[in-house]
Amino acid sequence: MNKISIIGAGMTGSTTAHWLAERELADLVLVDVVEGMPQGKALDMFEAMPIIGKDVEIVGANDYAATKGSDIIIITAGLPRKPGMSRDDLLSANAEIVGKAATETLAHSPDAIYIVLTNPLDTMAYLTMKRTGLPRQRVVGQAGILDSARMRAFVAMETGVSVENIDCYVLGGHGDEMVPLTRHSNIAGIPLKEYLPADRLDAIVTRTRKGGGEIVNLLKTGSAFYAPSVACAQMAEAILKDKHLIVPCAAYMQGEYGLNDMFFGVPVMLGRNGVERILEYRLDADEQAMFDASAAAVKETHEALKKLVTL
Ligand code: NAI
Ligand code: 2OP
Repeated sequence: MNKISIIGAGMTGSTTAHWLAERELADLVLVDVVEGMPQGKALDMFEAMPIIGKDVEIVGANDYAATKGSDIIIITAGLPRKPGMSRDDLLSANAEIVGKAATETLAHSPDAIYIVLTNPLDTMAYLTMKRTGLPRQRVVGQAGILDSARMRAFVAMETGVSVENIDCYVLGGHGDEMVPLTRHSNIAGIPLKEYLPADRLDAIVTRTRKGGGEIVNLLKTGSAFYAPSVACAQMAEAILKDKHLIVPCAAYMQGEYGLNDMFFGVPVMLGRNGVERILEYRLDADEQAMFDASAAAVKETHEALKKLVTL
């Protein structure tokens, strides 16, 4: 059986375990600093397995020894946003937590592929790659699947069309400057721009960019977890089943889209080796300008990280 360890057993971590258990993909380990909590959640979830008929082991722990031999490490540990906070406000606290989680898990699972969720996402993925020294194939960040799914959901709400018929592509950094590519998005093959009036499409783009904040403002005590965690589960499944699935994810740039030495949301092919390919869209001038603005914002957070910690 494959093994996936999830670091951080809070809202996103435990919900990721839930989606993964339902897929019977791997034995699962939940690690958290809070005593008893990962053990309790793991036991509760395992007690659900007889009901859904899935044979996966689920254990909780407060130390990294239990993660030994993992195929995938998913990092969700860290603070979530509160109303009024940006993702970047989490930088200093989460850099310490993610940096430690990355190096300690690698010592027990030298062959693992890392999926990072903790915010600020692009910069936490960058930190994970730099701290572990892993090749770029083995560190990937989750953002674009979620941001694209939000846009798909908003288009479905606007049009009444099944979510299954709607394809949207949101690239760039996981911040308010993210890049919803309306030209590449469509309903059953019909470009969104032809299906929807311009003002409705603009409203959907704005709502997508602020989608994370919308949930934070509603919940008041934390941020989204159902959609982010199923996005992590989809990535883990694509890797373990060697699906060669193309999804928008944060990947390390080495010249793609003219970007270097940074993580950025781009179409990525996921398979058993992790990030197997990065696909490059031909962007028009407006899209390129949005990419540049989003890349500048991510770079700024990367630079702030470099002032805080040694990479
Ligand atoms: P949460 O507060 O529910 O869970 C975080 C957990 O991390 C807590 O249980 C906490 O005890 C644990 N933790 C703290 N330090 C730790 C350490 N050193 N080792 C192990 N565990 C530790 O927060 P939630 O909602 O699960 O969010 C987690 C992170 O994911 C946040 O930074 C949030 O902003 C981010 N996020 C990112 C998304 C994305 O699309 N990239 C979407 C949703 C959340
Ligand atoms: C989100 O977009 C908080 O980054 C998280 O929901």
